[in-house]
Amino acid sequence: MCGIIGYIGKREVAPILIDGLKRMEYRGYDSAGVAMINGKKELDIRKRKGRVSVVASEVEADHFSAHVGIGHTRWATHGGVTDTNAHPHVSSCGRFIMVHNGIIENYENMRSFLISKGYTFKSETDSEALVNLIAYHFDERTKDYNEDRFLEAVRKALLHVEGTYGIAVISPLFPNEIIAARKGSPLIIGIGNGEHFIASDVSGFSGRAKNVIYLEDGQVASITKDDCDILTIGKQQVECVIKEIDWEMETAELGSYKHFMEKEIFEQRKAIENAIRGRLSDDQSTAVLNGLNITANELRSIDRILLCACGTAWHACLVAEYLIERYARIPVEVEYASEFRYRNPPLDKNTLVFVISQSGETIDTLEALRESKRKGFKTLAITNVVGSTIARESDGGLYQYSGKEIGVASTKAFTSQIIIMLLVALYLGRMRDLSFADGKEIVSAIKALPDLIDETLKQADVVRKIAKKYSKFPDFLFLGRLEEYPIALEGALKLKEISYIHAEGYPAAEMKHGPIALVCPECPAVIFANQGEIFQKVISNAKEIGARKGPVILITDSPDEIESGLADDVIAIPKAHDAVRTIIDTIPIQLLAYYIAVERGCDVDKPRNLAKSVTVE
Ligand code: F6R
Repeated sequence: MCGIIGYIGKREVAPILIDGLKRMEYRGYDSAGVAMINGKKELDIRKRKGRVSVVASEVEADHFSAHVGIGHTRWATHGGVTDTNAHPHVSSCGRFIMVHNGIIENYENMRSFLISKGYTFKSETDSEALVNLIAYHFDERTKDYNEDRFLEAVRKALLHVEGTYGIAVISPLFPNEIIAARKGSPLIIGIGNGEHFIASDVSGFSGRAKNVIYLEDGQVASITKDDCDILTIGKQQVECVIKEIDWEMETAELGSYKHFMEKEIFEQRKAIENAIRGRLSDDQSTAVLNGLNITANELRSIDRILLCACGTAWHACLVAEYLIERYARIPVEVEYASEFRYRNPPLDKNTLVFVISQSGETIDTLEALRESKRKGFKTLAITNVVGSTIARESDGGLYQYSGKEIGVASTKAFTSQIIIMLLVALYLGRMRDLSFADGKEIVSAIKALPDLIDETLKQADVVRKIAKKYSKFPDFLFLGRLEEYPIALEGALKLKEISYIHAEGYPAAEMKHGPIALVCPECPAVIFANQGEIFQKVISNAKEIGARKGPVILITDSPDEIESGLADDVIAIPKAHDAVRTIIDTIPIQLLAYYIAVERGCDVDKPRNLAKSVTVE
């Protein structure tokens, strides 16, 4: 949700800013802009609605030479998608220039106050109020400061902010300094040789700085090319903790793929292998989960698990509910993080809270984690991004190691979250009632999974043809039962977000209680019908759809047992153990959504209105 970049050093700043914005464009792509200051204290600002490439060509044509600058890629919150609302924003006096990620909740009060003091506004954004408040504090509240006046003006202004921010501010009055601050939105300082970088995500400066400082909430930093001085907003000195980024940034190359989403769907074998590597016990009967940072005794005393997440990660929690309750026999509740943080549900003292977040930055999930910690609960996290805020603030957890997920629609991160939660279920189960033999059976199912993924991916051409046939249909239903119900929800979400087709996921047998009224020849139903106790029940549900002339697309591991005429289209998947079947089910629905979106000419990797990392409420 908005990406911020900043640089101060000896290199030409423009290419660094543009490159950083391109790498962080997944955070928002409504508009982009940069501001640079040169040695003569001249300022150059370029900002445009649209993708980074639009502003990049202007910046290139501009040839403005400078060594200090900030940039922004926007996901619009306050104010429409216009050039004027694009960041950076400039105070009405022209002396302060700021980029902002977050929401200033009390901006209307600030604005009225500032207007009464003679400040003027050009945009409809909340951010412009803050940059003017900084100017106000500079003029009115820090007149007697000889040193650190820039830092103090920003710090004092921030004391009045309600809401969230990651900001970077520059000023022609202080051409050798950037002020950065954070509350609720991520901000990382990269340390180079005689240079510093600022970014919302390390990918913004990857390959350029390996040592980083994670700015914490409530901290403000004065950054020059050689120094970085950090204070709390309350003016306490903070010791800089420098961390080395211990993972290699993968090059974001598409290779032979057309889109990152396609690439990431096909990377699922590797993502699963990475998630399980080193996490199976030598006797092949349980999981080894060192990162959990919780003792066996503590785990044995747990009598309830609360899972919290948003979006696709929330669907992974729903699958986990089935897995944990089945194998570990511990009651599980799944909450939307955005609801949990305000709901205040009664929690038993032996509850374990688990949050799941690919990015590790989703604000609602982060706040759910913080709320659980405030209440004294042990909180664990599954995240994909090493060093992300959720990873740093949780008491323990497990990294996914899926590799960077660039496509806005989550694919490989989802299946990796499921496999990790299966490891958790297995681990907890083996501490309780799950037998050695059952543990071994699950481990062999896990080990068989990579080959089954490859086999399922061979159905891509079949799915592509089905996608072509149905790509113009206005509505879809996705139906599954038990743990395939969350996969039905995920199928509907994938289709909605990248192809803009209305879709709903339902437990197949619930159709009769209302949604079956939607069934008609223009509303295909994608149904999971796999061998097991309820195979015949799902087949009956499929017949109920067919009888009402709804096209049926069956995803099944038993194509030979499907009577002719029952399904309009069949996607055959390999037989998989119950423990891992949801992962196999997921692949065809990801492919279906992908190929339909391609067929409709949609911008698959950057769907409208979305951003990869949701750092605003
Ligand atoms: C959908 C999707 C989103 C995310 C959600 C949570 O394809 O990607 O629904 O799953 O925004 O994001 P994380 O996992 O980063 O917390």
